[in-house]
Amino acid sequence: MSSNKIIFKNDENLNKIELDIINYSNKLIKSLNVPENTDLISRKYEGGIKIWECALDLIQFLPKIYSKSNLTNFNVLELGCGHGLPGIYFLLKKSNVTFQDFNKEVLENITNNYIIQLKDKYNLDYLKNADFISGDWKEFKSNKKFNIIVSGDTLYNIDNYEKIFNILYNYLEKNGVAYFSTKKFYYGVGGSSGEFIYFIESKNCFEINKINEINDGISNIRLSLEIKWKIIL
Ligand SMILES: C[S@@+](CC[C@H](N)C(=O)[O-])C[C@H]1O[C@@H](n2cnc3c(N)ncnc32)[C@H](O)[C@@H]1O
Repeated sequence: MSSNKIIFKNDENLNKIELDIINYSNKLIKSLNVPENTDLISRKYEGGIKIWECALDLIQFLPKIYSKSNLTNFNVLELGCGHGLPGIYFLLKKSNVTFQDFNKEVLENITNNYIIQLKDKYNLDYLKNADFISGDWKEFKSNKKFNIIVSGDTLYNIDNYEKIFNILYNYLEKNGVAYFSTKKFYYGVGGSSGEFIYFIESKNCFEINKINEINDGISNIRLSLEIKWKIIL
């Protein structure tokens, strides 16, 4: 990342809010016993210590849809949140946000620390409307359904597609919407936007559409996918 500050600048109501990105890596890498420069240790550490490109894409892209919307009391879920920047965007829009990640240590030391930082800096009482769920998507349980589900850089492993589908199936409100920002191909690990689209379409429950494509000629092509329940006439 070139800057160590995130500014929610595409939303006219939030453009004064700045979040200092703190490098927690060393401390956390030690506590998780993860070798340095490792992005993934299957079923132990799944990448949440870093901020990934797709989370940054989401915080550019979501305000284009929601900057003028009143999202007070909306229930939002960020799946595989890591630092949780898209979820924090919705928290700042006064939604109730559930931050979910494989690693409890990431939620406690990174995601929640950002929320504390913003509460202290801007005295925003409504930021308390956050809750945290750690663990594998296979075991995901919540006592509520969600109006919006967001997720960045989480489609790299085809083995997780069924788990993600089950979460959408069980927890997306009937008039809700999910946004997944993803790389077109995850070289070396197998997942891809095409495989995920094919998988979701094969279940015949949801419409899935590409709504944003970033091809900067520097890194991998990235897309945002919008998922809604099919309308049954
Ligand atoms: C590549 S990181 C992306 C983090 C963040 N969304 C971002 O874009 O910066 C993938 C995230 O998905 C979560 N994750 C991956 N597989 C998971 C699983 N099976 N169950 C729960 N969370 C998982 C990881 O904990 C990790 O934070």
